[in-house]
Amino acid sequence: MNKILKISSFIAIASLFGACGGDNMQRVTSPDGKTLLTFSLSPDGRPLYSLQKNGITVINDSQLGFLLAPNDSLYAGFAITGVTASAFDETWQQPWGEEIDVRNHYNELKIRLQEQAGKRRQLNIIFRAFDDGVGFRYEFPEQPNLATFEIAAELTEFALAVNDSVWSIPAYKGEYYETLWTKSLLSSLDTVTTPVTVETADNRYILIHEANLTDYAKMNLYPVGSHLKTDLTPWENGIKAYVSTPFATPWRTIVMADNLNSLANSRMMLNLNEPSRIEDTSWIRPAKYIGIWWGMHQEKYTWSQGPKHGATTDNVKKYIDFAASHRISGVLVEGWNYGWDGDWVTNGHQFKFSHPYPDCDMDTISSYAAEKGVEIVGHNETGGATINYENQLDMAFAFLKAHGINVVKTGYVNNLLDKKERHSSQYGVRHFRKVIETAAKYQIMVDNHEPVMPTGLQRTFPNLMTQEGVRGQEYDAWSQDGGNPPEHTTVVPFTRGLAGPVDFTFGTFNFDNPVHPDTRVQTTIAKQLALYVVIYSPLQMASDLPENYEGNPAFEFIERVPTDWAKTVILDGKIGDYIVTARKDKHSNDWFIGAITDENARNLQLNLSFLDKGKIYKAKIFKDAPDADWKTNPNPVLIQETEITSDSDLNLYIAPGGGAALWLKAEN
Ligand code: NOJ
Repeated sequence: MNKILKISSFIAIASLFGACGGDNMQRVTSPDGKTLLTFSLSPDGRPLYSLQKNGITVINDSQLGFLLAPNDSLYAGFAITGVTASAFDETWQQPWGEEIDVRNHYNELKIRLQEQAGKRRQLNIIFRAFDDGVGFRYEFPEQPNLATFEIAAELTEFALAVNDSVWSIPAYKGEYYETLWTKSLLSSLDTVTTPVTVETADNRYILIHEANLTDYAKMNLYPVGSHLKTDLTPWENGIKAYVSTPFATPWRTIVMADNLNSLANSRMMLNLNEPSRIEDTSWIRPAKYIGIWWGMHQEKYTWSQGPKHGATTDNVKKYIDFAASHRISGVLVEGWNYGWDGDWVTNGHQFKFSHPYPDCDMDTISSYAAEKGVEIVGHNETGGATINYENQLDMAFAFLKAHGINVVKTGYVNNLLDKKERHSSQYGVRHFRKVIETAAKYQIMVDNHEPVMPTGLQRTFPNLMTQEGVRGQEYDAWSQDGGNPPEHTTVVPFTRGLAGPVDFTFGTFNFDNPVHPDTRVQTTIAKQLALYVVIYSPLQMASDLPENYEGNPAFEFIERVPTDWAKTVILDGKIGDYIVTARKDKHSNDWFIGAITDENARNLQLNLSFLDKGKIYKAKIFKDAPDADWKTNPNPVLIQETEITSDSDLNLYIAPGGGAALWLKAEN
């Protein structure tokens, strides 16, 4: 894990960089020379940066710095006291992911600044120029006049050169990023959270986000003209972050991509996180799971005890039986513990994480699961009561381990944590990190629902498998607006999906919704299958009730589709319209392809030249029947078998709200 495969170099190479236009201007270019980052100090000592790609300005001079509380500026009056340039090149391996090898190749420029009057405080800014973009962070060195302080505002700006269209979600209006991504002009944005995906008029992409969000507040952005300015999620009292030196902020990241494939395959965010702190990762395993889950969202079952209780010993056993006979390795059990009775969102402090309900015998369940070779996926819903959870954390994880449970889904359903702080505040960030680190100690994998937006921490803690932070399939059970529109899943891979794995939980085969008949999953079955390839997560749920899968030959695709990949290629797409994704299985030479569309039918022609030349693949194609339609006829799936090679022409019809899922089995 994280083995360095190539030469790793970290050497001062000041001659490659250096001053130009006077000492107050410094430049660094990416290894391929196409990305140019310029740092400068204004005449009154304000740090600025600008960014060019292929000689075209992407970001004009943009402000850097901070306002400390109360009303103390740390953004002007600086002089450069030192500049260090260096280069780095290594290739590391992911324990799981969308591809195995990740090259981390950049040129770095570290600028040391010091105020020329007053407290003479020091601030460093580190820039890394990659072929696919730029990351930068602030470093506050340990110093007598800046020991502990409060950040009132981070002033980082992204002065985009063009007022392009942006895909975004509001920072404060939705709950934990569970809103639909929309496209609007940069200058007309609300305060939005990152990532934001800028789509230029000539189909290039700029992704602004952050990496390694540690002990700090989440970055949001708001426009002033076409300039985006930083707004950190505050604590309840308005302070953005409490800091003691030495301290480094998260990296601010700007990916620049000429096409969707380069955008989706940028690993800059991961590269800007620290290498794994978990040495032995053999216990960390991607998987598929079913669960006592959709039944609750459709009100067939309840989480709490009572006549409709879902997590009874007998019911869990039925799910285990289904998993064991259908190549599904895990069963999620929600509603197994005390705390669900009454208004559990308001009363999250009632949750007990080592007290099963009497009709959910965890000893029997865990030995039955072990006998059948199935893993239980534990569930810790907190109702946002993090203090209650932290008080029980060790006990909770010891309980899971005592029952052979190696993975837990955590939940924080509440607009505020502990009734006062936002999920994306420094308070929330600290809590989520504590849970991930404690879980690592117990060798427990985490699926974090209602999280702070992911920023690549899975590189450092690969037990952080997947997260929600998306308007997922549950909205198709009860959302007042009828469910996720067909377009939604064509947007997610290029927005939320670029922040890290998404636990979306697709897999619906039965579109009836007895309690909310006007709300439903707005896809065909073939699209449900394709989503396992299109939206990445190392843990993927088959979310429907087992009885809805029994006997349906289309379920074979869910049984077969892997959750860990050697390689990923975006073959075609347009954000908001359609996407075709191909991924190579990590453990065989098989490829899988997922194609999905919005509400419009499409004829897609697939270019298969990415396949190994000369290899014959036996393709099993699960696609919409000619009369399929998400609204009127979502069920019919045609299953066809054919032989294909890298030279084949493959034409696929996908229905309105439909899709196609392909398994290409390598024959030779
Ligand atoms: C919201 C989560 O997203 C969902 O998956 C879960 O079932 C409920 N909270 C209860 O924890």
